[in-house]
Amino acid sequence: MKIGIVGGTGREGRGLGVRWAKAGHDVFIGSRKADKGVAKAAEFSEEFGVALQGGDNVAACNHADLVIVTVPYSAHRPTFESIKDAVGGKVIVDITVPIKPPKVRSVNLPEGQSAALEAQALLGEGVRLVAALHHISSEHLSDPEHTFDCDVLVCGDDKEARAAVIALISDLGLRGVDAGVLKNAIALESLTPVLLHINRRYKSVGSGIRITGIPETE
Ligand SMILES: NC(=O)c1ccc[n+]([C@@H]2O[C@H](COP(=O)([O-])OP(=O)(O)OC[C@H]3O[C@@H](n4cnc5c(N)ncnc54)[C@H](OP(=O)(O)O)[C@@H]3O)[C@@H](O)[C@H]2O)c1
Repeated sequence: MKIGIVGGTGREGRGLGVRWAKAGHDVFIGSRKADKGVAKAAEFSEEFGVALQGGDNVAACNHADLVIVTVPYSAHRPTFESIKDAVGGKVIVDITVPIKPPKVRSVNLPEGQSAALEAQALLGEGVRLVAALHHISSEHLSDPEHTFDCDVLVCGDDKEARAAVIALISDLGLRGVDAGVLKNAIALESLTPVLLHINRRYKSVGSGIRITGIPETE
């Protein structure tokens, strides 16, 4: 699949882009600045032995069948505004956690209740937005030796879009679990500060969650 990563020059973008490229996907690293996108794509490609393309965020969206947005919450609204005209008809994955530094271990409910609901409101109902990957550490994603033992909860109002994202998540070496409608992003985004607290309390890197009681074959 052609995957465009908006803000793909950062920590999550690096790990996701490299893992998906290794799984055979065509990945385009986007940035606010085209030359930074090109440079980071070349850097990641050399470091991990993959072939990524790069450019600006709109080019990443134009290139892709599926777009994933990996920017800090402070950049969330302006980023979605900048790509709005380039994402029509595509599935968009928003991984944003609306944490408010320095209180990153405390839940912050934004004005629109969740970052993903704010993105959906900005893009309009015609766009199939999915929220996922809020609990997956960039350190683990970027470590090719790391094997995950946690799950990814995936929510969105379009069942087929959720299924497409769950399939892509399996190519990262993770199990995606259907977590229902986009409004449930309020719960998923709110869990990340809890995990950040647990990381500090137990001196762990990237604690995760595992859903029990569902068939492994699902
Ligand atoms: N890091 C994690 O372990 C982790 C885990 C789960 C979820 N998340 C969520 O994933 C998202 C991305 O996290 P990250 O750690 O990958 O972020 P990051 O590395 O800090 O930033 C990602 C990219 O966002 C762009 N960006 C940064 N500041 C910006 C600004 N003020 N305006 C516009 N663009 C800006 C930059 O790209 P350009 O300069 O190239 O435009 C940057 O490379 C966040 O919402 C975070 O809550 C992170």
